[in-house]
Amino acid sequence: MNIVVTGSIAYDYLMSFPGRFVEHLLPDQLHHISVSFLVDEMRRQRGGCAANIAYTLALLGERPRLMGTVGQDFGAYRSWLEAQGVDTSLTHDELDLFTASFFVNTDQDGNQIASFYTGAMTRARNLSFHDPRIGPVDLVVISPNDPEAMVKYAAECQALGLPYLYDPSQQIIRLSGDDLRAGLEGCALLVVNQYEFEMLHEKTGLSAEEIRAAPQQACVITLGPEGAHIWADGELHAIPPVPPTRLDEPTGVGDAFRAGLIKGLALGLDWGIAGRMGALAATYVLELPGPQSHRYTWDQFVARFRTQFDSFAFTTAFSAPLR
Ligand SMILES: Nc1ncnc2c1ncn2[C@@H]1O[C@H](COP(=O)(O)OP(=O)(O)OP(=O)(O)O)[C@@H](O)[C@H]1O
Ligand SMILES: [Mg+2]
Repeated sequence: MNIVVTGSIAYDYLMSFPGRFVEHLLPDQLHHISVSFLVDEMRRQRGGCAANIAYTLALLGERPRLMGTVGQDFGAYRSWLEAQGVDTSLTHDELDLFTASFFVNTDQDGNQIASFYTGAMTRARNLSFHDPRIGPVDLVVISPNDPEAMVKYAAECQALGLPYLYDPSQQIIRLSGDDLRAGLEGCALLVVNQYEFEMLHEKTGLSAEEIRAAPQQACVITLGPEGAHIWADGELHAIPPVPPTRLDEPTGVGDAFRAGLIKGLALGLDWGIAGRMGALAATYVLELPGPQSHRYTWDQFVARFRTQFDSFAFTTAFSAPLR
């Protein structure tokens, strides 16, 4: 399937402070804070919603095209994504800026101080689906990005008749009710978590029923450890979660769920199976730190799927030629 994935492409800088922030914040001096936390550990992880979704799609055997703006520090990330099977030819280098970066420092109590530098991502609004290099597309993913870019891509996809999966998630806060309604009303698929679904309802003024009925194909609501609900053709498909063998941290579970779901749709499988593929793809991410640390072959994915959902329907759905 020809899939174009738009959204954030970022580095995550994760630091741990071996103390407690509260001991260094003086309540009577909060009007002129000047504190420096000496951290003893830092990891830099590849992240960003679009890159995470594209990575898992590539693991599942697709060749997604990643579309976004990246900075002068993207070289190693680009080579790595290409080596995993992601086509990065639609990413645009903004050499005077750095790639979007999320900096988070976590103390021993689990308190966090974070900053998100948008960097090259602010220029995503300069990219366009009218770019002749894009050609025919089966599905566009509009995931969290520069808010103006999200509004523009949704309008362009509608004008060009390109089906898109609308995933406004973290950026719901930054989009107006009108922008969200426009994105929602033209989409093929909506995928949000329960909290985001409630925010959509509040900001657009649409009822829950109206939101569920808006996408042309399906409205998918992920429910964390409770799995997901897929509303399609007026029917509810309840998707059970896949229990993890070990729990690490959840960054990127939602992104992996979307990739698994899309792979199921690319194979022409029904909602129940595609949703379960999303749930399994998500669980692999829960079991390891970071959104792009998991790795499996298609055969390993199918084998685990069969073990988890051992029923005739799912076994036959994955007969050999389906790749
Ligand atoms: N503890 C868990 N156990 C099993 N599956 C889980 C768990 N948490 C999440 N999942 C799976 O991941 C999917 C997406 O999770 P969730 O609804 O938390 O997304 P999210 O809030 O968008 O996550 P994030 O934005 O942090 O990536 C769920 O539908 C479920 O299949
Ligand atoms: Mg999410």
